[in-house]
Amino acid sequence: MTTIALYNIKGGVGKTAGCVNLAYLAAEEGKKTLIWDVDPQGSSSYYFNIEARLKGGIKKLIAGEGGLEANIQPTEYDNLWLLPADFGNRHLDILIDETKQARKKLKSLVASLQGEYDYLFIDCPPGIGALSEAIFASADFVALPTIPTTLSLRTFDMVQQFFVEHQLDPARLLAFFSMVDIRKNLHNETIEKYYKHKHFLKNYIPYLSTVEKMGTRQAPVAWFAPSSYAAQCFRDVWKEMKKKMGA
Ligand SMILES: Nc1ncnc2c1ncn2[C@@H]1O[C@H](COP(=O)(O)OP(=O)(O)O)[C@@H](O)[C@H]1O
Ligand SMILES: [Mg+2]
Repeated sequence: MTTIALYNIKGGVGKTAGCVNLAYLAAEEGKKTLIWDVDPQGSSSYYFNIEARLKGGIKKLIAGEGGLEANIQPTEYDNLWLLPADFGNRHLDILIDETKQARKKLKSLVASLQGEYDYLFIDCPPGIGALSEAIFASADFVALPTIPTTLSLRTFDMVQQFFVEHQLDPARLLAFFSMVDIRKNLHNETIEKYYKHKHFLKNYIPYLSTVEKMGTRQAPVAWFAPSSYAAQCFRDVWKEMKKKMGA
């Protein structure tokens, strides 16, 4: 099983859009795929029309008492399952910080899925703290959707720095530009500048109304608009990501 966390310090950068669409593409290829919606906002759960609630809450799940299996739900798509969010997830940072061994617990929860799925996608909440640290330790790759602006790139540098300081291998960072507006000079210049950056993919996700429509369609773009430019962009990013991961 390959675990990919869609992560960024920032909110509203395309983590959930990336998570839902890339996971759908993996499933479409016949790979058994699970999305774990860790964000208390439950956006991934919403896109699959699955209630953002865990039986017994997140505390039990993290303690290993909730039973992952009991909470994993099939989506309406072949090969794609979802472990929904829970509003209690907003306490996860504190929970993981307070509970000794919590990082190990998250890691062992992820490890318990080994053999069951080909891919695990984790839809992370924004922020950087105990939870993100635990996720970095549990995931094989951290996919970072990044808007090509100066401030967004500063947060990318912070994450990269965090990896170095915590002896995490920065080669596990798969950054890609998202919500790109090619009419904007800054976006264009930034993409050009980062074209050869070793942690950035060459393919990117433009700002497209098809992606916005996911909100009303409650579905991945490759499902409701399979021949759209947006679906093609996600396919290109996924293809390049797989190559980088050695899949
Ligand atoms: N490539 C895109 N083009 C247009 N809108 C997008 C794109 N990616 C995301 N959005 C929209 O922007 C908002 C935030 O995206 P989302 O994926 O939920 O971000 P995050 O998970 O990082 O908070 C959502 O309303 C989403 O529909
Ligand atoms: Mg999100």
